[in-house]
Amino acid sequence: MTLSLGSLLSSVQAQMDAIPYLPFGLQVFGALSLATAISGTLSFVFSNFVRPGISLKKFGASKGAWAVVTGASDGIGREFAIQLARAGFNVLLAARNQAKLDAVVADIAKVASAVQTKTFVIDFASADDAKWEALLGELKPIEVGVLVNCVGVSHEFPTDFVDTSEEELNTIVGVNVSATLRVTSLIAPAMVSRKKGLILNMGSFAGASPTPMLAVYSGSKAFLRTWSDALSAELTPKGITVEHVNTYFVTSAMSKIRRPSLFIPTPKAFVRSVLAKLAPGTVTPYWSHALVGAAMALAPPQAVLGYVHSLQKDTRRRALAKRARLAKQE
Ligand SMILES: NC(=O)c1ccc[n+]([C@@H]2O[C@H](COP(=O)([O-])OP(=O)(O)OC[C@H]3O[C@@H](n4cnc5c(N)ncnc54)[C@H](OP(=O)(O)O)[C@@H]3O)[C@@H](O)[C@H]2O)c1
Repeated sequence: MTLSLGSLLSSVQAQMDAIPYLPFGLQVFGALSLATAISGTLSFVFSNFVRPGISLKKFGASKGAWAVVTGASDGIGREFAIQLARAGFNVLLAARNQAKLDAVVADIAKVASAVQTKTFVIDFASADDAKWEALLGELKPIEVGVLVNCVGVSHEFPTDFVDTSEEELNTIVGVNVSATLRVTSLIAPAMVSRKKGLILNMGSFAGASPTPMLAVYSGSKAFLRTWSDALSAELTPKGITVEHVNTYFVTSAMSKIRRPSLFIPTPKAFVRSVLAKLAPGTVTPYWSHALVGAAMALAPPQAVLGYVHSLQKDTRRRALAKRARLAKQE
């Protein structure tokens, strides 16, 4: 049986006439979808490219306040220490290696000779109570205006959870979760008393997008995201800004990526974007990371999960091949 276009259209029209409110309903649905798309796009453009960030002056820059940076001897933390010193904060730098911390202090002296610096050697995976007491002793006499919870560790390379060593998973949770909570609970109460302070928690796209084969790291960053957003709601009325800094790849020892690209900035460019766009809640400050985040939010979650899993399988395959090559050379 053949149906002409004319008779098909009249049959559709007849069915629409049978449901009197259908054309109106479709128009409302179309208008709402368009309005949602337009407002989503405008809010994305505003928050990523237009909205001015909160000024560091609000947190005591150049007025004697300190910035405490964990994981300050390398990568993103090192750059936070340098840029916050340049902005006029005295800086307390914490990490495991005294020589690396001293090198950062020397770099700070070159760009911000007027600020004071302190270093504190600590292994956040295994610090005992005496070490935490010593840290408290360093913090008590100073006014901390900014806390950057930057320290973070990931898996040596992508591995299924069942094959992850107990030591590795304890280190990841100990550093990324427990130590971050403990440092924050040493510093936040004094910020609340002064009604002033900025807490930056370094997140990761792995916290928003479940990452197979980095499952413990991914879960620890999901914890940071949820905790930060809840803490932000608690502390905003008390005058404290809590920001969860959401990030995709940055060149560093952890990412094992050396060459920057459009989507992978250097720590210097990345930290500059963070400090220019300070705001409470979850922020994706680097412009191309925000585009990646928007694309991931629009894609079906199962497709993102499958893509991320295949990326990790590929990374593991290359890491194992490199390990085998190195073993042959020995
Ligand atoms: N780079 C990326 O692509 C990327 C992407 C998403 C999120 N992030 C997040 O950004 C943050 C910084 O990453 P990054 O790439 O800058 O890492 P990184 O270059 O490996 O630097 C890590 C820093 O943490 C310190 N650290 C490591 N383990 C420690 C421990 N147990 N106790 C005390 N300090 C320790 C290291 O110094 P010592 O070795 O001297 O102790 C170093 O200063 C992390 O939270 C990470 O999850 C990074």
